[in-house]
Amino acid sequence: KKVLHIVGARPNFMKVAPIHRAIRERGLLAQTLVHTGQHYDVKMSDVFFTDLGMPAPDVHLGIGSGSHTEQTARVMLELEKVFTQEKPDLVSVVGDVNSTLAGTLVAVKMGIKLAHVEAGLRSGDLTMPEEINRLLVDRISDLLLTPSADADANLLREGIAPERIRMVGNVMIDSLLSARDQALRLSTLKDMGFTPRGYAVCTLHRASNVDDEGTLRGLLSALGHVASRLPVVFPVHPRTRKRIADLGLGPTLDRTPGLRLVDPLGYLEFLALTSQARLVFTDSGGLQEETTVLGIPCLTVRENTERPITVDVGTNLVVGTHPAHIQREADRILDGHEKKGRVPDRWDGRTGERIAQLYEETLGAVAPPRRA
Ligand code: UD1
Repeated sequence: KKVLHIVGARPNFMKVAPIHRAIRERGLLAQTLVHTGQHYDVKMSDVFFTDLGMPAPDVHLGIGSGSHTEQTARVMLELEKVFTQEKPDLVSVVGDVNSTLAGTLVAVKMGIKLAHVEAGLRSGDLTMPEEINRLLVDRISDLLLTPSADADANLLREGIAPERIRMVGNVMIDSLLSARDQALRLSTLKDMGFTPRGYAVCTLHRASNVDDEGTLRGLLSALGHVASRLPVVFPVHPRTRKRIADLGLGPTLDRTPGLRLVDPLGYLEFLALTSQARLVFTDSGGLQEETTVLGIPCLTVRENTERPITVDVGTNLVVGTHPAHIQREADRILDGHEKKGRVPDRWDGRTGERIAQLYEETLGAVAPPRRA
């Protein structure tokens, strides 16, 4: 029996790597890894395969960027050919990017069993492309694998049958826990002239934040305030890099004391930075979860989150996008009034194994009886 995994964009790689590894180690299922090419820069894709110890994709579709419709449709057309040739018994998709939706639609239309990893997350914000992807994928998946109980509750509320839902935990945390020691041995901090807890990390790429000029300017001014108190490293996503250039903001940012813009970083280097930061300033989804496990204060500069458990039990604060408010919350943390949290259940590094086991059960793959 064969599982086919789909990856496309940066946040997919750290979710698929642990599942792929667990299936390989257990040895009961065949698997094919398909990369759609939604992200294609070395720094947005290749480096993650190396850093996560993941084999190169078996199939690369080379789709690239485009409008949401173009991107999704092109992935669908190519995937139909791949599924016809590979004949998977189960297609496994992760997260909420356009490649996730494309893979889901093709699998379902071809009558192939579909599992969605990271099911049930909801921001409630239908203007977010990822929220549309999440809703549609969950509605038609056969197996919904959730990271936390709040996700189960969302799915049940939407009328999804309980037998389709399994709370397996957060698979991305498998990658984090297995890479942490290696990341801490890197010289990243030293090379950048930072000391542990002596700097902040910023990432911004959400369309709602960077495509809107007023919002982006506000966020960058709040960031300038943080940078006036401690150094900030800001690895810039290609989408954000482009907006900064279009708006002519580069020279101002270069002149902002304490602020250092760098290219996107690999998984290990970035983990070295986040795990020793004083503060993380972000609009990422995954980073809200990673900081919760690392116990690092996180300011999420969005109006909502699909990961409320990071606020309820973790170190995350959702602070919106108004600069004055963000600055106030950043100051509270830097003045020593930071929120403490704990690690949610089943964010324990064993989710990949639980998923592999579930796929085996679903496909009726059983271990051969042991010889005496
Ligand atoms: C996508 C996901 C988003 C995820 C993000 C992580 C969707 C709807 N969005 O957004 O959920 O958080 O990835 O990075 O799927 N570009 C490059 N090199 C690349 C990839 C993109 O230069 O390797 C540039 C292109 O100009 C492109 C822009 O970045 O137009 C945006 O890329 P795209 O994949 O459309 O969406 P993201 O903003 O990355």
